Amino acid sequence: MKLTITQSTIKKIKADAVAVFVLQDETKFRASLRELKQFFGSTIERLTTLEDFTGKADQLLYAHTDKKIASPRLIVIGLGESSKISLEGIRRAAAAVAKRARSAKAKHLALLLPSLDTVLKEPVETIAQTITEGCLLSLYKYDKYFTEKKETNSKIGAITLFSDDEDLLKAAKKGMIFGRSLCDSVYFSRDLQNAPSNEIHPEALAHAARESGAKHGFRVTVWDKKRIDQEGFGGLMTVNAGSSRPPVFIVMEYHGKNMQSQPIVLIGKGITFDTGGISLKPSAGMAEMKMDMSGGAAVIATMEAAARLKLAINLVGLVPATENMPGGSAMKPGDVIRHYGGKTSEVDNTDAEGRLILADALAYATKYKPAAVIDLATLTGACVVALGHHATGMMGNDAELMAQLRTAGDRTFERVWELPLFEEYEKQIKSEIADVKNVGGRWAGTITAGLFLKKFIGDYKWVHLDIAGTAMLEEDLPYAPRGGSGVGVRLLVEFLKNHK
Ligand code: BES
Ligand code: ZN
Ligand code: ZN
Repeated sequence: MKLTITQSTIKKIKADAVAVFVLQDETKFRASLRELKQFFGSTIERLTTLEDFTGKADQLLYAHTDKKIASPRLIVIGLGESSKISLEGIRRAAAAVAKRARSAKAKHLALLLPSLDTVLKEPVETIAQTITEGCLLSLYKYDKYFTEKKETNSKIGAITLFSDDEDLLKAAKKGMIFGRSLCDSVYFSRDLQNAPSNEIHPEALAHAARESGAKHGFRVTVWDKKRIDQEGFGGLMTVNAGSSRPPVFIVMEYHGKNMQSQPIVLIGKGITFDTGGISLKPSAGMAEMKMDMSGGAAVIATMEAAARLKLAINLVGLVPATENMPGGSAMKPGDVIRHYGGKTSEVDNTDAEGRLILADALAYATKYKPAAVIDLATLTGACVVALGHHATGMMGNDAELMAQLRTAGDRTFERVWELPLFEEYEKQIKSEIADVKNVGGRWAGTITAGLFLKKFIGDYKWVHLDIAGTAMLEEDLPYAPRGGSGVGVRLLVEFLKNHK
């Protein structure tokens, strides 16, 4: 996709479709229309006097233009009342425009950069980034395995932001470039998620991380099965026991700050397929479990984004990865594991495998003397029951860190919602044979999973993000088609960007 910024006007810009954002407020709406009427004459007048279009949020008007203008198609998108406008509103409006242009088979889409900085109290740079995000994220398709290219699969190859205001464009350019890199990494994460498990198995996931690290400038070390065993990662070894593919432990490091500065450590669950193991999952919907490495994908892609965007932080990414398979040598209910650091856990249900591999990584993270540790995992079905697909479950031991993630979540619209780690829930994961048991019964499954992880953390600030609902989408969202959403990347980059 080619992204450009040009100084031009609605009349002069040459593209297959030209898009304009308009506010619903009476006077602003009239002013926009007056301008458009010059070029589109009676068409616009008719459509608007029929009250088909009022500038309400998400309302879209599509028309063919007359010869007074260089582009043959016009898309007008409503932003709603200026008092209620938000970054997310702009992101969605841009997404609606991009999808409409694609369905019109436009190859080149030009958008008039709206001057909303004063209304929104956000810099032009951020607005341009947000428009870029809306366009790019909504156009994502995972179609590499189709051998027949469908006619309906038209692709937009170029997007231009234009304005006649040179100062506006200068600021916008930075935002567009930032948004582009960020979205490339979200695409990377979505591709890893959507890839079938016969393509993205643990070693392939490590390979993808290595390739990205070499290209974008972060260090990647991959432990093989022998090393994982030697280091005492009992959780990862045990979960891997039923699989014919070896596990990996992916260690990534990015330095954007002096070496003395304590790093943020990101940990991602990398189960490349979760059958449930001996506690086998029902077959309906099991294919979704190719995305049980979504936390790992988010961490790898965030390392990539941090390196591309040259964020001024030190960052470590840790991804334990394996399949969870049944088989003659698979772990069994009742088995006891010795994790990295020495603590033990009882396997009561082999389908609660994510926490078993994360336990090793959380204990290992202590070695980095981290400023904070954030783990991301498609950990519990219970989280999907509680929050559906619109919020990530958040738990942790530090209110300030959680508040920062909450802010980043609101800005990126990758929203997080806190669940309590009250100690009263702990009795549910008491084991009669080991330090802790890997399941806590029917109630509060997301919280008991969080409390299991908490047993293994070191003396550091920690947040656990359960992305089971937000990572795997059953239906299209405004700018994320069903399947892997790439959740976590924009959230973490926003958080890291503001981290001092
Ligand atoms: N990967 C699943 C969680 C999951 C379920 C993610 C649905 C996305 C959608 C996890 O490993 C799992 O199976 N968890 C069990 C835990 C239970 C056995 C305590 C669950 O949620 O049912
Ligand atoms: Zn499972
Ligand atoms: Zn799982």
